[in-house]
Amino acid sequence: MKAFFSTAFGGPEVSFYGELPDPSPGIGQLLVEVIAVSLNAADIKIKRGDLKSYTGSVFPKILGSDFAGIVKEVGPGTTGFNRGDRVYGMTSVFTGKPGALAELLTVDKVKVRPVPAGMTFEEAAALPAASLTAINGLRTCMITAGKELLINGATGGVGHFAVQIAKALGAVVTATCSPDNAGFARKLGAHNVIGYRRKDLVSAGRKYDAILDAYGRMEYADARRLLKRGGIYASTLFVPPSGISSFFLKHVYGKRLTAANMRAEPEDYQEIERMFLEKKLYPVIENYFTLDKAASAFELAEHGKHRGKIVVTV
Ligand SMILES: NC(=O)c1ccc[n+]([C@@H]2O[C@H](COP(=O)([O-])OP(=O)(O)OC[C@H]3O[C@@H](n4cnc5c(N)ncnc54)[C@H](OP(=O)(O)O)[C@@H]3O)[C@@H](O)[C@H]2O)c1
Repeated sequence: MKAFFSTAFGGPEVSFYGELPDPSPGIGQLLVEVIAVSLNAADIKIKRGDLKSYTGSVFPKILGSDFAGIVKEVGPGTTGFNRGDRVYGMTSVFTGKPGALAELLTVDKVKVRPVPAGMTFEEAAALPAASLTAINGLRTCMITAGKELLINGATGGVGHFAVQIAKALGAVVTATCSPDNAGFARKLGAHNVIGYRRKDLVSAGRKYDAILDAYGRMEYADARRLLKRGGIYASTLFVPPSGISSFFLKHVYGKRLTAANMRAEPEDYQEIERMFLEKKLYPVIENYFTLDKAASAFELAEHGKHRGKIVVTV
């Protein structure tokens, strides 16, 4: 099969498009003919070697977790799927297993769902990791109608889904983004749009019931200042602050800092699919690349100013 793979940790100098052996499905697995893959920030980190303690250092390494395609073969003992089914899902690249940036993918059936009628392969591939992180982050922030919410990094993969979901929940959304993306953030449904530098955050003069930090690295001191008493800050890259500062935050200021992690249970997928079908949530895909040009997709994801999701078609 043709695949896009790395031969070492690094950038385009260690990335290749070429032939690798076809995989075959094991017990409880499906062999999927991949049609579309979307990139996530984790793919870039894995490629660079930032997460090597999770992924291991075995090469060649095929990246890409979010995929959509057609079942080509059903593995031994695998029930519930048939050859020809349209499927999508998220394969775990953290365990060192081959990812989806290839013509063929073997994937555990528990990681796979049917593509709902009315959803394209590209849309399906764009949804999993980012939308599931956004929806669970908003649950963590306890967002309900009328809550004042700040979404930091509102126009990337996680952020652009979070703005749409929060709007659908009835929150009053303030989005942060770079100046070029302000119009895009408004189109997604943000009520207010500000820059993400400290002076922009402060000069906006608002306080929030919750902050969903989709970018992940807002200074905790800024988060504390921007939250109302009793407010919640949830970060996609949460690192627990020291015991003393979190004690003061919680018990003196009544504010909580926590993690906005992805959850990928069937009910989470169902909620995302329902919102998509009700037209409350759509993946914005401005940039498509073919598999042989996947290196350019990584380049854009890492160094460009992309909006929404980047999709590689196979
Ligand atoms: N914990 C989990 O389960 C989980 C799951 C998924 C993702 N994540 C993490 O979440 C983060 C975001 O992922 P993503 O897929 O949304 O990435 P992405 O598509 O690259 O988006 C990142 C966004 O951050 C914005 N940004 C850049 N510098 C910023 C700053 N200084 N302050 C605020 N925003 C800034 C970018 O805006 P501009 O381009 O306009 O500058 C962009 O919109 C990644 O670190 C990823 O690893 C965690």
